[in-house]
Amino acid sequence: MGRRPLGFRLALGLSALLIPSLAAPGRAAAPAQNPDVKAGQALYVTHCAACHGNAGRGDGPSAAGFATKPADLTDGRLLNVLPDEFLLSVIRRGGPSEGLSPGMPGFAAYLSETQTRQVVAYVRSLASPRWQPAMARPVVTVPGAPAQPIFFSHLIHAGKYTIACQYCHTEARRSEYAGLPSVERCMGCHKIIGAQDNPEIGKIHEYWRRGLAIPWVRVFKVPEFTYFPHKPHVRFGVECQTCHGPIERMRVVGGVTGPSLAHDLANLVGLKPPPRPLTMGWCVDCHRAQNAARRAQAPLDCVACHH
Ligand code: HEC
Ligand code: HEC
Ligand code: HEC
Ligand code: HEC
Ligand code: HEC
Ligand code: HEC
Repeated sequence: MGRRPLGFRLALGLSALLIPSLAAPGRAAAPAQNPDVKAGQALYVTHCAACHGNAGRGDGPSAAGFATKPADLTDGRLLNVLPDEFLLSVIRRGGPSEGLSPGMPGFAAYLSETQTRQVVAYVRSLASPRWQPAMARPVVTVPGAPAQPIFFSHLIHAGKYTIACQYCHTEARRSEYAGLPSVERCMGCHKIIGAQDNPEIGKIHEYWRRGLAIPWVRVFKVPEFTYFPHKPHVRFGVECQTCHGPIERMRVVGGVTGPSLAHDLANLVGLKPPPRPLTMGWCVDCHRAQNAARRAQAPLDCVACHH
């Protein structure tokens, strides 16, 4: 990313002067007093500043050598939603642990767990807008989520960058299927982003060159004899997450769905657990509830779901 034009930076500086009441409270108070932040700052200067810059803006003396630039650690709009778990993983195990560029090395051999947390505390103190613990949303890991041919992270695309679900799943509003994005859609951004030094993104280029679709492994699926259309659900305003879970917090998409023996046994002994997603009981329970509460006209007759 190029440097911002001077006029823009001046305008930002001016607006900061004009609204001191918004910027001031607490801004100066915290960092110097917190011992973790202080210790983290010293470690940061030794290990991180060469790439990320003294002020954390991603403009250290080594930064120019990288195709994917060191992250601007002061940009709270992007970083604040990422939980400590994500930052710790990137710092200890390197960029590839989250699908990012190997230009970000792992520091597990140089920093203890405690020291890594101190660096994270310091990085948090750089954020603008200011970081509050409540902003970070925990990563959700679903047991049994399948390995995909490319490490595509919803946590980064939909969580950090807040790209709208329907920007990629474009069919959801107008058809039975939600649809997966084509390689061309990925290339719209990745012709440039990460193209030179991120091997996971290199894989997209490889599929594109060979004219192949990416063979994604399917996660959510109802049996062939069942009809599930996205369109009426999305148009009625049922959120994607109601049925799929907090996808924007997942590194790898997974779902605990369909009938299971353990669930049937729990039912048999009278524990009455709520129906598992994508079972018939789940569909019908929601249809009853929505018809009662929101005057929906969700079908309960067999042929609506079994043609
Ligand atoms: C050799 C250069 C280099 C050094 C040294 C380095 N980084 Fe990085 N860092 C990078 C690059 C390049 C990226 C961008 C990776 C990407 O976006 O694919 C990055 C990304 C990150 C990210 C991810 C941010 C995000 O938006 O997801 C964090 C956090 C981070 N670095 C923290 C640190 C810390 C803390 C240190 C010191 C312990 C450090 N880095 C040292 C090059 C470096
Ligand atoms: C609207 C732009 C956009 C689109 C479309 C897009 N990406 Fe990304 N992608 C990004 C940005 C921004 C990053 C972060 C790059 C970084 O920090 O290094 C990223 C990072 C990645 C990464 C590395 C981090 C991770 O997720 O593991 C992979 C792999 C990736 N994208 C794959 C894909 C694939 C596959 C598609 C198509 C299905 C796609 N992207 C579509 C913007 C986009
Ligand atoms: C940049 C493009 C992109 C964005 C934005 C995006 N997705 Fe995806 N989504 C994909 C790709 C590629 C896959 C296939 C790989 C995978 O399962 O991770 C996928 C898979 C899925 C799946 C699993 C499909 C299956 O196999 O059953 C669901 C559910 C899903 N996305 C929901 C969402 C939701 C909800 C959002 C918004 C919070 C969202 N996606 C945002 C690209 C995207
Ligand atoms: C009412 C529940 C429900 C809602 C709401 C919902 N889905 Fe689905 N989704 C499903 C079911 C059930 C399947 C499996 C369908 C099948 O096997 O035919 C599925 C499948 C998918 C798939 C796999 C591929 C495909 O095209 O079917 C993707 C991707 C997906 N959903 C994304 C989304 C996105 C994005 C949204 C929000 C815009 C969304 N879903 C809203 C229940 C839902
Ligand atoms: C979270 C709630 C919810 C879940 C779960 C749900 N539905 Fe629905 N469904 C609705 C609502 C609400 C409507 C009615 C929308 C309206 O009144 O326009 C609907 C409508 C439908 C329709 C009627 C479509 C039409 O064109 O009239 C079908 C078919 C359907 N759902 C199938 C399913 C199946 C199959 C499942 C389970 C795999 C399922 N639904 C799960 C809420 C849900
Ligand atoms: C709202 C949608 C919906 C309606 C209405 C519906 N079903 Fe289903 N049904 C499903 C789904 C989804 C499955 C597959 C998941 C499962 O096996 O639980 C299924 C599975 C089944 C199965 C296979 C069960 C098994 O154990 O393998 C039978 C048989 C069945 N339905 C019969 C019916 C009959 C009879 C009716 C009318 C009284 C009906 N369904 C109404 C959604 C529906």
